[in-house]
Amino acid sequence: MTESPADDRRPAENARQESDAAANIAGVENRIGRTNRSTSSDGLEYDVVRTPVLVVGAGAAGARVAISLAESGLEPLVIGKRDHGDAHTTWAAGGINAALGSLDDEDDWTIHAADTLNEGHHLNDPEAVELTAREMPDRIRELEEWGMPFDRTDDGAINQRYFGAQSYRRTCFVGDRTGEAMLETLIGRARDLEIPYRENVMITRLLSDGRRVFGAAGFDMETGRGLLFRSNHVVLAAGGFSALYDRHSSRDDENNGDAQALALEAGARLMDLEFVQFHPTGMVGERYGEEWDGRLVTEAVRGEGGRLYNSENERFMERYSPDQMELDARDVVARAIGQEIDAGRGTENGGVYLDISHRDADYVRERLPQMVERFASLGVDITEEPIEVAPTAHYTMGGVDIDFHTGETRVDGLYAVGEAVAGVHGANRLGGNSLAETVAIGKLVGDHIATAVDESDADPSVTDEQRALAEREFRSLESLADADGEVTPTTLLADLGELLWDRAGILRDESGLRTGLEELEALRDRTGDLRVEGGLTSRSFEFAVDLSVSLTVAEAMLRTALARTESRGAHYRTDYPETHPDWRVNLLVSADEGGLAIDRRGVAEPSDPVREALEEGYELDYHHLE
Ligand code: FUM
Repeated sequence: MTESPADDRRPAENARQESDAAANIAGVENRIGRTNRSTSSDGLEYDVVRTPVLVVGAGAAGARVAISLAESGLEPLVIGKRDHGDAHTTWAAGGINAALGSLDDEDDWTIHAADTLNEGHHLNDPEAVELTAREMPDRIRELEEWGMPFDRTDDGAINQRYFGAQSYRRTCFVGDRTGEAMLETLIGRARDLEIPYRENVMITRLLSDGRRVFGAAGFDMETGRGLLFRSNHVVLAAGGFSALYDRHSSRDDENNGDAQALALEAGARLMDLEFVQFHPTGMVGERYGEEWDGRLVTEAVRGEGGRLYNSENERFMERYSPDQMELDARDVVARAIGQEIDAGRGTENGGVYLDISHRDADYVRERLPQMVERFASLGVDITEEPIEVAPTAHYTMGGVDIDFHTGETRVDGLYAVGEAVAGVHGANRLGGNSLAETVAIGKLVGDHIATAVDESDADPSVTDEQRALAEREFRSLESLADADGEVTPTTLLADLGELLWDRAGILRDESGLRTGLEELEALRDRTGDLRVEGGLTSRSFEFAVDLSVSLTVAEAMLRTALARTESRGAHYRTDYPETHPDWRVNLLVSADEGGLAIDRRGVAEPSDPVREALEEGYELDYHHLE
């Protein structure tokens, strides 16, 4: 792989052990782990933090892992790029799946698993799916116990709504702010357990020799100070990479591939990066303002009865999916909207209409309060008029390859969880399963790590080699902050976003993907002329770091999308429009000396109970809702 400026690391200059005389920073020990100051022989100052388990990422997955660890008596350290309590989880709106059967008592975990496998086009890891579906009822009851204010049925049960491609009403919700309510609940629980955290920290490198992890290096985004974390157990819970696309539902500074790039560089494998979920209904910037472009209009609008119309006032899903209509799988609905727009039946602003005004206004206000409020602030009353929507990059099914019972990667001591990993969702994710995965698998991973931590982890050692690696990283960050070329990171990230949207978007083909790889090389060359403004604590610097990460992940995505010569779920190749049984394999990506290597791995079969549920052929019947 071509190097970007952030990879331009200089050799260590006589790394020196941290001074034991450097006292713990007064008053902060319990909140940020045990911290010492250190200086290298050539005067580089940085902080050294020791913790038995370092959790990188402070969203729902990281929080749930940390809760399990704390409940087992350990004191992990959770770090996040934003203020505590602010993570991408807050943007997951519509709900979280669990086969509770509050309204449809025929539902059970095997049907949840079967729906997940069908939506994932059988590329999912069946064990990961089964663990998630089985765990979820208990995880929901646990969240309820910790105070999550779920919406209720008239008789007091946790209410459940329809979401796309689910055979039964299975999605539990808190209005349309489910992710926010869930993160508040998890953070509340973490506070009760006094779990240490550190906010506004960006990790830029894992300390690894390719076989074992020793900790991580990064910087404090408020002070610019280098941070060396010593830890024998590092959990990557830092999300996915959908924000690499021009139009995406995340904020610009999250979901930009940190977890995947860090894991790959440390020696772990990535899997199935070609599968990117385009949510059918993102806000249309031309209509609502650039800052809203691509932001999510929750699937709950369709789950509560919202209908899609083209500019000819035709309810076009009747043509694409007469049985499941607007609640067919996300890839199906997103492609249908794309086709309507391409055929000239879109709105003037480049979208289609989503309308829920036929439903009772009070019902809409009760079920979708956040949507009502957001659009009201933009001058639109959704109880009276339609809104304009178009597909947006929303979620990445691919990620770090792990063992789902333990969260382990192939690097000792390195774990991953949540959207950072691949496996539960296969080729396309069922709406409501992302929040589910964070807590279902997060608990299992936390419980496992608790059994793996021993006394030696209380004061983790770091070898001279790893310390030198961290010091090289700090120097590299400083030189990146001083970059004084002509092109800004924001410009290059925007160009990368367009490249991916055009070459690896909802529809792909060989020639577009090959062109995308060439354009990526040209973009890499331009990073040699980068200009960072405002130093180590600036947004410009943060975006420059994001850029180096993004290029690695973008290359892996383009290469796997090129390698998979079939269409399956969210990966639609116009030159290979059929799904092929020989391609029921996962694509594994690893970094080797020659660049990126791609290998295939077969997918396991589901257990008997889930196979039986698959054979029953359950599926959503939309007209049942009307
Ligand atoms: O549309 C939504 O509310 C998204 C939910 C999800 O991605 O699971």
